[in-house]
Amino acid sequence: MSLQLLITGGAGFIGSHTCLSLLEAGHGLVVLDNFANSSPEALRRVQELTGPQAATRLQLIRGDIRSREAVAQAFRAAPIDAVLHFAGLKAVGESVRQPQRYWDVNVGGTLQLLKAMADHNCRTLVFSSSATLYGFPDQVPIPEKAPLRPINPYGHTKAAVERLLTDVAASEPGWRVAALRYFNPVGAHPSGRLGEAPSGTPSNLFPYLSQVAVGLRPTLQVFGADWPTPDGTGVRDYIHVMDLAEGHRAALEVLVREPPQLLTLNLGSGRGHSVLELVAAFEAASGRAIPYQVVARRPGDSPTSVADPSLATARLGWRTRRGLAEICRDGWAWQSANPQGYGEAH
Ligand code: NAD
Ligand code: WQD
Repeated sequence: MSLQLLITGGAGFIGSHTCLSLLEAGHGLVVLDNFANSSPEALRRVQELTGPQAATRLQLIRGDIRSREAVAQAFRAAPIDAVLHFAGLKAVGESVRQPQRYWDVNVGGTLQLLKAMADHNCRTLVFSSSATLYGFPDQVPIPEKAPLRPINPYGHTKAAVERLLTDVAASEPGWRVAALRYFNPVGAHPSGRLGEAPSGTPSNLFPYLSQVAVGLRPTLQVFGADWPTPDGTGVRDYIHVMDLAEGHRAALEVLVREPPQLLTLNLGSGRGHSVLELVAAFEAASGRAIPYQVVARRPGDSPTSVADPSLATARLGWRTRRGLAEICRDGWAWQSANPQGYGEAH
């Protein structure tokens, strides 16, 4: 089954890896991205990896999801069967300083997209939600039915979009919606050609420690070694970005195959790793020492966040296949070959 798909934010970290996976599955893609946090070079490399024939099935529209005209242009480019909606802003700290901007892009942008979808009779949507919705969880591993208690503006916008999608799906029959709550997406395509290219100082652990390993930064700061965890450092559920890409493919196939529904699923491995375990695994994969110093806890952090992914396995027949060793091997292949991200390669 070959579908025509609109991919918002398809040039970004998760979007670009998913575009590759979807092209390999034979689908046609229209990518809508304003490159607010990405480079067209990522899509060029997606095309390079698929080869010239499949590459012709990717069309790019440079534009903003908040622009009615840009979204309409994307829908005119092909008869769209389904939308995968990655576009958005994701930096927690920035969202505290600029909440209006986050509500405008993440919530306003999604509203604009939903309007255009209805206008074009397209009612199939996969949305990038986040484990950030669970805030400080009472129960770990975290099931989807856990209470939603986001603790920052970024998380509030994700909760608002999930609420919006629930209301829209209930308003008329025919909507097929998946809200996928990602845990901690990391790693890179094994080719070393695609990966995460944060602008400025990374706020997340994996890109930060990759930059320390490659010599761009002197030391990793470990935010607290006094958490109630086995080694005192924070525990997270790290998911390889290619496992995440495959999760999107599986969710899309289920939405299209089954009767209309709203699916809300955790995408994670179900396994937790501490900061120090990740440091050790990355040192082993890279052969480089990663100097670190323990500093105070970061405000807003919780000790442990691990998915219960059993619903995704039951509903999608999907589970993660790559562990910490592959995550670090592929992350290092990317970081060592592209120390400046996509910057130097235009
Ligand atoms: P990313 O920043 O790499 O990708 C987002 C893409 O959207 C970028 O290419 C950016 O240029 C584009 N974009 C931003 N604003 C836009 C706008 N107004 N119009 C058009 N394009 C726009 O981030 P990512 O890590 O790939 O995340 C993708 C999605 O997954 C986001 O919605 C994010 O909130 C969500 N998510 C990410 C994580 C994570 O840790 N990376 C975890 C959970 C959920
Ligand atoms: C992981 C662990 C830190 C950096 C964030 C967002 C969340 C989601 C994914 C989008 C924690 C520790 C970190 C550093 C460190 N994004 N750490 N030194 O906080 O689980 O989740 O990204 O939806 O919304 O909040 O990920 O990678 O920032 O932190 O010690 O320099 O690493 O304390 O224990 P987090 P992270």
